[in-house]
Amino acid sequence: MCGIIGYTGSSHNAKDAVIEGLKRLEYRGYDSAGIAVFEKGKINLYKSKGKISNLENLLKDKNVSSNCGIGHTRWATHGEPSETNAHPHTVGKVTLVHNGIIENYNELKEKLLEEGVSFKSQTDTEVACAYIDFVYQNEKDKLKCLIKSTDEFRGSYAFGIIFEDEPDVIYATRKDSPLIIGITENNENFIASDVSAILNFTNKYILLEYGEYARVSKDKVEIFNHELRKTTKEINIADWSSSEYEKDGYEHFMLKEINEQPKIIANIFKKYSTDPSYIKNVDISSYSNIHIVACGSAMHAGLIGKYLFENYDNIPVTVEVASEYRYKNQLITPNTLVIVVSQSGETADTLAALRIAKEKGAKTLAIVNAIGSTIAREADICIYTYAGPEIAVATTKGYTSQVAVLSLLALEIGLKKKTISKEMYEKIIEESNSIESLLTDTINKHDEYLNIAKKIHEKEDLFFIGRGIDSAVCMEGSLKLKEISYMHSESYAAGELKHGTISLIENDTPVIAVATDINLYEKTISNIKETKARGAFSILITTDNISKESTVDFADIALTVAKTNTFIQQIIVVTALQLIAYETSKLRGCDIDKPKNLAKSVTVE
Ligand code: F6R
Repeated sequence: MCGIIGYTGSSHNAKDAVIEGLKRLEYRGYDSAGIAVFEKGKINLYKSKGKISNLENLLKDKNVSSNCGIGHTRWATHGEPSETNAHPHTVGKVTLVHNGIIENYNELKEKLLEEGVSFKSQTDTEVACAYIDFVYQNEKDKLKCLIKSTDEFRGSYAFGIIFEDEPDVIYATRKDSPLIIGITENNENFIASDVSAILNFTNKYILLEYGEYARVSKDKVEIFNHELRKTTKEINIADWSSSEYEKDGYEHFMLKEINEQPKIIANIFKKYSTDPSYIKNVDISSYSNIHIVACGSAMHAGLIGKYLFENYDNIPVTVEVASEYRYKNQLITPNTLVIVVSQSGETADTLAALRIAKEKGAKTLAIVNAIGSTIAREADICIYTYAGPEIAVATTKGYTSQVAVLSLLALEIGLKKKTISKEMYEKIIEESNSIESLLTDTINKHDEYLNIAKKIHEKEDLFFIGRGIDSAVCMEGSLKLKEISYMHSESYAAGELKHGTISLIENDTPVIAVATDINLYEKTISNIKETKARGAFSILITTDNISKESTVDFADIALTVAKTNTFIQQIIVVTALQLIAYETSKLRGCDIDKPKNLAKSVTVE
């Protein structure tokens, strides 16, 4: 979702530093881009619809030289993607970039229209810009002007702001949308939505909090609170290096990230076994019920968690999408644990759900990848997944690392509650030592994934079916396929299909069935046969303890993955599903890393 970068300094041309930062923010998803730079004391705007390469083409012959600029990648919310709606916006003396949504922009716009202000775009951002300029006409202290203005804004925002009458200084503030200040000792400083944008220049950064206002010049970063008192901030060092943001020889980031999974998952299990402060000391075994709240794939990881917590720990679990959870009666009791799951740690609905859960007195535990993100900081307890930066919009290692942490939590609770015996626990830990090789072997079945992709890529509708924990992994497999290949795909509990959906099965409709649970295997096979009898093209994904030959009657294709325990089985299955989605998307010629309409970090409702 929208990305912000700002540069002030004398070591680089601001235009180049800002464009470089924008390219690093591309992964967040966007449909237009723009920059504003001081050139000879005057602010000039350059904007274009579509890719950053369009903006680069626009700038090619312009010979822009500047010491300060702000830039933005916009993911359209208010108004179509267009040059006019692209940020930065200028009104009067104020130019700004914005991430978030100003919810009361209509109210503010009416007030400004009455004052004779006119607008060029359809955006809430231009209204915010005009409002700040309006306040600035009477309040010449810029920080006071920003405080007065933002006090009137409802919604979420991260702003990077420059004033025409103060060249080479950037102001910044935020509420519910992330913003950091990048620090260097080389006479240059930055603002950015996340560290990825600045890692080529510095790994030192300050996290700006809600209610803080920054004044950034090339040799000074000052942070003020709402009462205009200067605050001293901790300087953080980013662990992730800029090389982690490269494709490293892979054709796509998604493929690179799938291939990183064997090491990442093995490391999570290793860290759990060797570092008592990781997961082991998080004692959540006394809670009588758990709410898992998240969005998209993170919610699907929660479904795997539900199965494990309920089956192995005897704890009732509800899993809900955060956008619904935040607006319902959550039924939190003193004994409820709320687990929020988020790769980015910034997803607006998940963050809101976390805050509500805290307000209502629940103990909160976050499972997060992005170090220092808002969700990680605000939850009572945070367990990091240490998956490293995820650039492809469709999550892969983000999801599997969430599943790994949930599995280990379930295992740990079971051990503490004695619902899992010591022998069983030790066997699972022993088996987890081979997770790296099992995942590598799974990834290496490349030809089989390509074969399946060839069979399904020309179809428009597809179904996933499974029972029990397999049904949870089907949800993720289906999402992966549809989001990157634009095929219509639905995931159903295998036994539910005949209650309506089976009427959609036609000759050659692909049905991908996952059957890894031996206790439910025969039931799922019956469901596959039901679809086969109606003409389905059936693809069975099962484990290698079942012979492929025994599946020839009902499976047009049978793919086997290594059999292991329930705590890690789905990490292996989903890796196969990720690769089927990847190969299918590739055959359909889709933009695998940046699927249309999607954004990586969803920081608005
Ligand atoms: C799908 C995908 C999304 C995210 C969801 C939550 O591939 O990536 O469904 O899982 O937007 O994002 P996080 O985990 O950052 O809260």
